[in-house]
Amino acid sequence: MQAKVSVRRFNPDEEQPKPYDQQFDVEVESHFTVLDTLIKVREEIDGSLAMRCSCRASICGSCAMRVNGHAVLACKARVSEHLSDDGEVRVEPAGNQPVIKDLVVDLEPFWNKIRAVEPYLQPSMPEPEGEYLAPNDVMLHLVDVMGCIMCGACVSDCTVLEVDPNFLGPAALAKAYRFVADTRDEEDGKRLGLYNGYGGIWDCTRCGECVQACPKGVAPMDRIMALREKAIESGTPPGDYDGAAYGYRHAEAFEEIVSHNGRLEETMLVVKTLGLFNLPKMLAMLPVGLNAMLHRKMPPPIAPKVPGINQIRRLAARIKMNKEGAAY
Ligand code: SF4
Ligand code: SF4
Ligand code: FES
Repeated sequence: MQAKVSVRRFNPDEEQPKPYDQQFDVEVESHFTVLDTLIKVREEIDGSLAMRCSCRASICGSCAMRVNGHAVLACKARVSEHLSDDGEVRVEPAGNQPVIKDLVVDLEPFWNKIRAVEPYLQPSMPEPEGEYLAPNDVMLHLVDVMGCIMCGACVSDCTVLEVDPNFLGPAALAKAYRFVADTRDEEDGKRLGLYNGYGGIWDCTRCGECVQACPKGVAPMDRIMALREKAIESGTPPGDYDGAAYGYRHAEAFEEIVSHNGRLEETMLVVKTLGLFNLPKMLAMLPVGLNAMLHRKMPPPIAPKVPGINQIRRLAARIKMNKEGAAY
C-alpha cells in the first residue's frame, strides 16, 4: 500500500529556520505503525529526519507526536488507520512543547512541571524496617494513574496549555493525584494548597482532550476533578487565587442548585459563583449570557417544576449525609 506522509519539518541550523511540510511517498505494509513508516523514510529516503523513539512497544513514552492533528504514540498508531481516502497522513511534533528539530520536542518544561508537584512519597510515620506498605485497595485504585509513561501526549493536546504555559498541565496533575490518593503520603494539606494556586487544578477547562490523547488510560482530567473534590472536602482554603475561590463557589453552587431545583439553572449558577455585587465580573459575563439566550441555551427565568422534585431533594439530602458521615 502506498502512503503519502506529510511531515512537519524544522531545522534550527538553517539560516532562517521556519517550519515547513515535506511529503514522502512510502510503500507500507498493513501492519506498519506511523513510527515504522517514519523509520523507513529515514532509512531509505532522508536520513536527516529527526524523531525520538526507543522501545517501539508503547512502553518508554518517547515517540509521542501529532498524527492528523491529535497526539498519539507513533509506535502504537497503525498507519493504515490514519490514511485519508487519498492515502495521506499528516505527522507533526507534539504540541505545547518547543521543537528542537523536526518531530523532536524539548521535554525540559514537561519535567519541570512534574518536579513542581513534588512527585515522591512524603510519609510522616517513622521509617519502617522493610517497605512502606499500603492497603491493597488503595494500590488497586492507583494502578491506572501509576501506568503513566510520561509520554506527554496529554500535554500536547491540552487546550489550556495552548493559551497559558503556566498551567501545570494534565500529566503533572495526574501525578499529583497519585500521591494525594496514596494513604502513605501525609502531606495532602500542603499538596492541595500548592495545587490550588494559579496554574493548578482550577485552571483546567474540562475539555477532555487529555483523556482522549492518553494511550495508557490515566484519564488526567478525572484525576484533576478528583483533586478539586478533595480540596473542597478536606477544607483546604482556596488561598488568594481568584480562580480557586470561584472554583469552590461554582462547585458548591452547582450542588446547591441541582439539589434544590432538580436541574441546573445557569443564571443562578453565575450569580452565586461570581457574587451578585461583583459588577465587573457580572458585566463581563453579559455577552456570554446574551449569546446563550440567542442560541436557546439558557433556561427560562421561571422554569416549570421538575416532576418528583421532593424525591430529588430527599436523595440529595441523603447523599450529603452519607458524604459527611464518610468524612469522619
Ligand atoms: S481536560 Fe483540562 S487538563 Fe485535560 S486537556 Fe482539557 S484543559 Fe487540559
Ligand atoms: S497521563 Fe497519559 S498521556 Fe499524559 S504523560 Fe501520562 S501516559 Fe502520557
Ligand atoms: S517508542 Fe517507546 S513508546 Fe513509542
